[in-house]
Amino acid sequence: MRAFIIKELAHPSKVSLSTDAPEPKTTDSQVLVDIYSAGLNFFDILQAQGKYQNKPPLPFTLGAEFAGKIAANSPIPKGCKYQPGDRVFGAQVGSFADKVAVDWQHLIPLPDAISFDQGAGLFVTWPTSYEALVGRAELKPGDWVLVTAAAGGVGIAAVQIAKALGAKVIAAAGSAAKLDVAKHYGGADYCVDYTKPGWQKEVLKITNGHGADIIYDPVGLINDSLKCIAWKGRALVIGFAGGTIEKVPMNLVLLKNVSLVGLHWGAYTPKEPSRIPQVWKAILDMFSSGRAKPVVYSEVYSLEKLVDGLAALERRETWGKAIVRIKEETTCERAKL
Ligand SMILES: NC(=O)c1ccc[n+]([C@@H]2O[C@H](COP(=O)([O-])OP(=O)(O)OC[C@H]3O[C@@H](n4cnc5c(N)ncnc54)[C@H](OP(=O)(O)O)[C@@H]3O)[C@@H](O)[C@H]2O)c1
Repeated sequence: MRAFIIKELAHPSKVSLSTDAPEPKTTDSQVLVDIYSAGLNFFDILQAQGKYQNKPPLPFTLGAEFAGKIAANSPIPKGCKYQPGDRVFGAQVGSFADKVAVDWQHLIPLPDAISFDQGAGLFVTWPTSYEALVGRAELKPGDWVLVTAAAGGVGIAAVQIAKALGAKVIAAAGSAAKLDVAKHYGGADYCVDYTKPGWQKEVLKITNGHGADIIYDPVGLINDSLKCIAWKGRALVIGFAGGTIEKVPMNLVLLKNVSLVGLHWGAYTPKEPSRIPQVWKAILDMFSSGRAKPVVYSEVYSLEKLVDGLAALERRETWGKAIVRIKEETTCERAKL
């Protein structure tokens, strides 16, 4: 089978696709999944070079998020609720390949109305944004929410979730094209280009001087955003896409009566597993009711062109979720849904 195998640590642009890799071996609790689409993440680029916190032993197949079907030749562990052919999504090291072995209990059924391309980008981004806004910042209808990198993977999900929950959303991003994406696909109410000096004044003007009740920040713009946060505002620390971990002056936190709130979705599995199904139920309800819809970047890459997709992500060109399509779903398969 095809697999993007990291034999020695290197930038993905230096790695070639293997076409004769063996199928992954399953453990007693695992099933084999035929991957149709896999999501691209910045951490894939870091992991290939050994620069990410999670360092699988060499050799390993790159990739994490995926959507696909339980393979026809998959073992079905005792108690497993899936059958060959069932549509699922999840995340497991090794998703840039035709097949991946994954614990069946970590999979989520993929609703028929969601394509494999859309499903491949859900597993990390959507619960991160939902739990940050709802579980951590306690969003209320009518709140002003400022989302930085609003066209990015987690950002566009945050814009949609906040809108679906009745907030007024200000999208901030680094170009007019990305702001269009946040407005068109995300439904943002207002847009602000954060490459322009003094952009915080725009936010204050839009909110009639009130400021943003919630700041959702995956970039590392907390210090800048505190200039336009509301009294008792909540600033959500989601990530550091800009490459710098900020040091926040604590006098600002005190003077503005604000809360700095962290969110690490991956830690819910060991720390608070009971919350995970609640979050997924809420997200899947939003999809089924049409209040939110996963956004896929316009250029979909083949597994052979994976490196081009990762390069586009690295160059900051992509928006929504960038995807590599590994297997095409036939019209016959679609017709059966
Ligand atoms: N806390 C959690 O549990 C959790 C979960 C998932 C992801 N994250 C983190 O959230 C961050 C964003 O993830 P994502 O999936 O949304 O990524 P993404 O789709 O690649 O979007 C990141 C966006 O950040 C902006 N950006 C600003 N400075 C940048 C720079 N120097 N290099 C690259 N991008 C830059 C870009 O938007 P503009 O061009 O508009 O500026 C870019 O599109 C990452 O740091 C990720 O690790 C955290």
